[in-house]
Amino acid sequence: MNGGDTKPVVAVVLAAGLGTRMKSRLPKVLHEAGGRPLLAWALDAARAAGCARIVVVAGHGAEEVQRRFAAGDVRFVLQERQLGTGHALAQAAPEVEGEATVLVLSGDVPLVRVETLRALLAAAGEGGAAMAVADLDAPASLGRVLATNDGRLAAIVELKDATPEQRAVRTINAGLYALPAPAIFDELARLRPNNAQGELYLTDAVTALAQQNGGVALHRLADPDEALGVNTRVELAQVHRLLVERKLQELMLAGVTVLEPQRTRVDAEVTVGQDTVIHPDVSILGNSVVGAGCTLHQGVWLRDTTLADDITIEPHSVLDGAVVEAGCRVGPFARLRPGTRLGAGARVGNFVEVKASRLGAGAKANHLAYIGDATVGEKANIGAGVVTCNYDGEKKHPTDIGAGAFVGSDTMLVAPVRVGSGATTAAGSVITKDVPDGALAIGRSRQRNLEGWQERRKKKRGGSGEG
Ligand code: UD1
Ligand code: CA
Repeated sequence: MNGGDTKPVVAVVLAAGLGTRMKSRLPKVLHEAGGRPLLAWALDAARAAGCARIVVVAGHGAEEVQRRFAAGDVRFVLQERQLGTGHALAQAAPEVEGEATVLVLSGDVPLVRVETLRALLAAAGEGGAAMAVADLDAPASLGRVLATNDGRLAAIVELKDATPEQRAVRTINAGLYALPAPAIFDELARLRPNNAQGELYLTDAVTALAQQNGGVALHRLADPDEALGVNTRVELAQVHRLLVERKLQELMLAGVTVLEPQRTRVDAEVTVGQDTVIHPDVSILGNSVVGAGCTLHQGVWLRDTTLADDITIEPHSVLDGAVVEAGCRVGPFARLRPGTRLGAGARVGNFVEVKASRLGAGAKANHLAYIGDATVGEKANIGAGVVTCNYDGEKKHPTDIGAGAFVGSDTMLVAPVRVGSGATTAAGSVITKDVPDGALAIGRSRQRNLEGWQERRKKKRGGSGEG
């Protein structure tokens, strides 16, 4: 930076558009890709570029957008009627005082990297202008960029206004600009909707700047994917895949094995430790944290879940809002719901559901159980088919199972109830009263054997012959 006279950089993210081609009730910039709303990606890039201020131009669905991004460092301006990208940027004028560099981003262009924004600012220089362009094989509906002989901007032409020769141009406008204020706002004030869409085009104002001293520098994107905008759900899917691929590459280069990246989804905020192995069809979503040396087998689904080190999650297990300590083994086909915490080395097996419960270190629930609102002590064993009957139709009640307890198969624990440490419940018991430490509780009717019953029955039937 060149001392004290550097002009402040104000990022303006255009996010007011209706996004008609999405055919959605949700504002376009709130559609998710890579596990976050589209707008979050542009905002993060602007933050990382160290902008003095970030302004979002909201319009269509403004309240929803504002609610979702109510973080302290973002200011919102309202574009009440969406009259075009030029009109959108003009709404930000009151947020940009005096001389400044305005870094324009589009809320629907999420692959933009911070390096690109920095390069754009460098290409513009003090008081100058620059825009990002890319050469695409299939430039779709993006604006075509015509260059001067010395490689600066001559004009931007929208596809709908382009001549056949202009349509054949493969250099496109990525929708990212570094523009000098107040000059750009003067040009925006002069815009007229003389085009096929009857809109006030930002691209016309940038073209006007190109005719002034200094012109507009073109910054060519090394990775043309950065220019991809989301206008349809087909493009949403493409962008989502690219964002996930970026994330997976980052993880692989940091020492995580991803066996089939094309069949794996990891969200942006997730962290994964070294030597963890991720099998196909695994999704790791939200704010999940996965430790080192874990194995996530096929079909595992994690959301907002924390795994310590050396944990194995067997196939087709669902973990949502759970915390799992080191060395546990979960699944196959296990379900851990929010508020579950498994102590070190615990084991939760197939068709076991756990909700808002803590299992102590080394505790086991290996088959077919429901554990809700319970505390399970260290090394306790929960047999097959055990249910904590935690709900009486009105309220939830807690179950407390002591350390080393043995809860026999098919025990119904009618909460609130406590099974003491080292206590045992007989298989098939319905436990409605607390069980003292070390006791055996049997809560079932006594078995009666009726000797010779089958013979007697046959004799009774004998008269009526064989059926
Ligand atoms: C725009 C550019 C095009 C460029 C492309 C890059 C114009 C006229 N065209 O086209 O040259 O190749 O982006 O992706 O600028 N928006 C508003 N208010 C409005 C209209 C749009 O805030 O009144 C916002 C949208 O929410 C979106 C962004 O501006 O985030 C771009 O608008 P969009 O309608 O998608 O423009 P494109 O047709 O993609
Ligand atoms: Ca667009």
